[in-house]
Amino acid sequence: MNPNKTPNEDHKVLRVGMIGLGMIFDETYKPVFLELANSPLYSPATGPVDIRWTAAATRTGTRGQNYLQQLKHLIPPFENCHGDDAIQKLLASNVDMVCVATPDDRHFEAAKMALLAGKHVLIEKPSVLTLKELEQLQEIADQKKVLAKVVYHKLADPDHKKLRTHYADSVFRHINNGYCSLLEPKSISGKQFAEWIVGRNPGTYVAVHYIKLIDFTFGPASVQPGWELIRINATGQRGLVGNADGPTWDSCQLQITYRHPDNREATFDIHTSWVMPDNFPGYVEQEVQFRFDNAIWNAHQRKRGVEMAIEDRTPNELKNTPNYHYNGAFLEPWGKRSQRGYGLEIIHRFFEEVAFVEFAGPAPSRGDRLQSMKELSYNDLSADRNTVAIVQAMEAILSEHVLGNPGAQVLVNGPDGGLVLYRPGKSEHLILHASKV
Ligand SMILES: NC(=O)c1ccc[n+]([C@@H]2O[C@H](COP(=O)([O-])OP(=O)(O)OC[C@H]3O[C@@H](n4cnc5c(N)ncnc54)[C@H](O)[C@@H]3O)[C@@H](O)[C@H]2O)c1
Repeated sequence: MNPNKTPNEDHKVLRVGMIGLGMIFDETYKPVFLELANSPLYSPATGPVDIRWTAAATRTGTRGQNYLQQLKHLIPPFENCHGDDAIQKLLASNVDMVCVATPDDRHFEAAKMALLAGKHVLIEKPSVLTLKELEQLQEIADQKKVLAKVVYHKLADPDHKKLRTHYADSVFRHINNGYCSLLEPKSISGKQFAEWIVGRNPGTYVAVHYIKLIDFTFGPASVQPGWELIRINATGQRGLVGNADGPTWDSCQLQITYRHPDNREATFDIHTSWVMPDNFPGYVEQEVQFRFDNAIWNAHQRKRGVEMAIEDRTPNELKNTPNYHYNGAFLEPWGKRSQRGYGLEIIHRFFEEVAFVEFAGPAPSRGDRLQSMKELSYNDLSADRNTVAIVQAMEAILSEHVLGNPGAQVLVNGPDGGLVLYRPGKSEHLILHASKV
């Protein structure tokens, strides 16, 4: 779009503020904003709705400055807020919704500020790190009558949609167990995230993709009453990213157990790492297997058929086995260039949900529209309780490990509370969250 083009007066407008302009912004949000700058959202109920990226907040402002330069012929300029009060400046700039893509331990504050300011909020995964934080955000969102949602793009992967469809239609019957693995190269822990890696672990960063997939696909409780999370175990290895006895983890193995309404258990192992060799074939290697009473399902996120080798370019600059379904830049058969995939679709969908709330009918029925969007359990914070509980439990188990108590276990909704940690050889337990998960 010509950035100097006169905006269409007939279109409704939603302005977006972006907090954090890192890797995920570049991969997914940026192409969505560029596409939406050329073509408004449209539904018969809302009419055309322009989505405008009008403000960004980062600590130094350097990345914002780079994007202002890089995109100056493509989109109108945005307000580049930076410094200690960057988020306050962004919130004062008349945005209607805010996307939070800061490192995972900095989601809460940013999201809370945006919700308090009455903005609709979309948070990158994992939404927050504790149930207490989740409850606070939900409470504020309810008070301010706005949406608070989280991005889990794997739920929009066609393979995962079909998995869920088969389960919902009883083609796959009664999940029993499974494994998921998600491995990343050393460059992620050593370069990309080097600034904020201390004290962090790859489980919180990427196991959440599969935690949510499992929780959503085989539940949620609203769809399958009686499907309950009951137990969480975790361990991991240290010594490459940080010291062997320090708080920074190279790899994690997480085990989560649910109970079906018929009292049979289902257990899932999720392995994650961010210290694979930089030239390993995956770049991001993702493999899943689920076993049912009557079926087995295997999926590989990148081995979907394409394999290529290009002198001097694969496997670093270009991948040997790319996943074009997540995100790909294409020359369309009709001649246009595009960038598309489920990683972008899931963000686009959030904007549609906000447009629906604000513009799909008269003001007096806004509350009904808001409620119907809040009931979408794939992305609403209210449906993120199990995922956040598992992340909180895993982080608590790993912290105990650092203190010299490996092998702790967390029980969910047991006799001592909602989320309770038990340590081998110690009689006293630790209540992580007293009320029901
Ligand atoms: N959906 C996915 O598949 C996916 C993939 C990668 C990352 N993520 C998530 O996105 C988030 C960001 O990851 P990334 O890879 O883009 O990280 P990154 O390190 O590349 O970028 C982080 C950005 O946040 C900014 N930032 C940091 N602290 C800030 C603060 N206090 N206020 C304002 N800005 C701040 C930094 O300046 C930077 O622009 C994480 O939560 C991560 O889990 C999601």
